[in-house]
Order: sequence, then C-alpha cells, then structure tokens
Amino acid sequence: MRVVTSERELRGLGGCVCVPTMGALHAGHASLVRAARAAAGAAAPVVVTVFVNPTQFNDAADLARYPRTLEADAALCHQSGADAVFAPPVGEVYPHGRVVRVPALPAVATEPGLEDRWRPGHFAGVCQVVARLFEMVSPAAAVFGQKDWQQLQVIRAMTAQERLGVEIIPGETVREHDGLAMSSRNRFLSAADRAPATALSRALAVAAQERDACGAEKLMLDTLRSAGHRVEYAVVRQAETLGPITRAGDRGRALIATRLGDVRLIDNAAW
Ligand code: PAJ
Repeated sequence: MRVVTSERELRGLGGCVCVPTMGALHAGHASLVRAARAAAGAAAPVVVTVFVNPTQFNDAADLARYPRTLEADAALCHQSGADAVFAPPVGEVYPHGRVVRVPALPAVATEPGLEDRWRPGHFAGVCQVVARLFEMVSPAAAVFGQKDWQQLQVIRAMTAQERLGVEIIPGETVREHDGLAMSSRNRFLSAADRAPATALSRALAVAAQERDACGAEKLMLDTLRSAGHRVEYAVVRQAETLGPITRAGDRGRALIATRLGDVRLIDNAAW
C-alpha cells in the first residue's frame, strides 16, 4: 500500500472505490474501507483520502484540536484492504491563486432545524472538498457512512445534481459495545461523560418503539436531557429529503445532535 500526497501520484488509480475521511481513523472507518474493497473486487483499487478540510469547520478551536494520526491511519487502511492513502497538504487541494468551486447546495443540506442551523456553512465546505477530491481521485464509486446521515444524503444529491458520475455506497454505523457510535471526537469525552454519552443510542432505540413522530421526539428529548445533554435537535424526519413526515407510509429516520461537555455528538437510526 502506498501513501501519496500529490495529485500527480494518483495516476493509474482512476476508476477506484474511494473512502473520503479526515483521518484519526477508527473501526467505523475500517469497515468503510472493507466495504470499498468488497465493492471494488479484485480489479479496481481502493483509495482512502485523509484530509482535515478547513472549509467545513465553523469553529477554529475544533479545527485546531482535530486529531492528526497519519501513521496509524495508514496502518489501519493497509490492514483493511486499501491500495493507497491520499493525504494531500492544504495547498494541493486548494492551490494558491485558484478558486475551488463550491457546488450548489442541494435542498437537503439546508432542511430547517438540522445541521445547517447549528453548523452554518458546514455542508458547503463538505460539498466543496468532496467534489474537489472526486476531481483529483476520479473514483467510480465512493463509500460514506450512515453515521453522518444528513451528510450521506447531501453527497448523494450533490453528486447527482453535478453529474459527477460517482456511485455513492452507504456504509453501516459501527458502535462501541455499549451502543455509542464510534467517532474521532469520542476521545475528547471526559471519564464522567463517557457513560451518559450512550443516551443517544438509547434515545434512538426508545423512539423506534413509538409510532407517533411527535411522541418519539418527546421520548428522545426526555432521555437525552435526563442524561445531562444539551440537545441541538432530536427529530424524526422523512429519511431521504429530511423534510417533515407527512404520510403514514413515509420512510422515517430519527436524527440527534447534542453537546455533552464541549463535545458534539450525533447519531441516527431508522424510524
Ligand atoms: P470523517 O468524520 O473522518 O468521516 C469519514 C467517513 O467515515 C464518513 O463517511 C463518516 O460517515 C464515516 N464514519 C464516521 N464514523 C463512523 C462509524 N462509527 N461507523 C461507520 N462510518 C463512520 O465525514 C467526514 O470525515 C468529512 O466530512 C468528509 C466526508 C471526509 C469530507 O471532508
């Protein structure tokens, strides 16, 4: 497996299955790499991108403390079946003097009450970097985790809208033994906050048992607040558009974002 840092070194890897990441890789990312390997078969290469994208952070402190662990990341990619890791410096992705276009934001990115309310501008940065990474890597397909459900829908919509010709493959959420969804930011949870952090997966499980959307939202709020979370949203929405549930037959998704101490946690599940 190779670690490359420039677009020039990607020659020959076009048509790959790509796994975009910001590094600090854990078992959740590893499962996406294995899914990419399975989708690629023996013929196509698997390329993991590791790039902490400054344009999607709306909090400078969050960007500054984002963990950078490239050596361990490369080892995990190798073990999980990747052929190459692309870890470009900022100047390779955003070359000096060149404007890197921000694709038009699909409607699902700005659904009221979700990520855009709490992280304005975040999805513009995500769409910008993903379109730019696709331009550099030229993948046939790319794997994105369901852990970031709204991001997955945004990328799907943006890829279709921009006719990028990249198949988007969803990957299952990998969890700790107690249900906490794995995240690069979990390492910032204090010892005292580690047990209450499981309230997200518990709230999602409770909501799944409640047939009424408003009732499910109230149950999630109660579960989260009684565990000490500051809730940004805890809602049930239509699974693809993330608009409100309007018909009994709508496929639903329960989505949660909270803060516990100074750590932001998100999770979601089928509803
Ligand atoms: P990052 O947070 O590093 O996540 C990279 C990919 O791993 C995303 O598709 C995310 O959904 C997935 N992932 C994270 N935790 C997971 C878990 N517990 N189980 C399964 N998959 C998980 O998401 C980003 O980076 C960035 O926004 C990016 C798309 C790379 C653009 O910069």
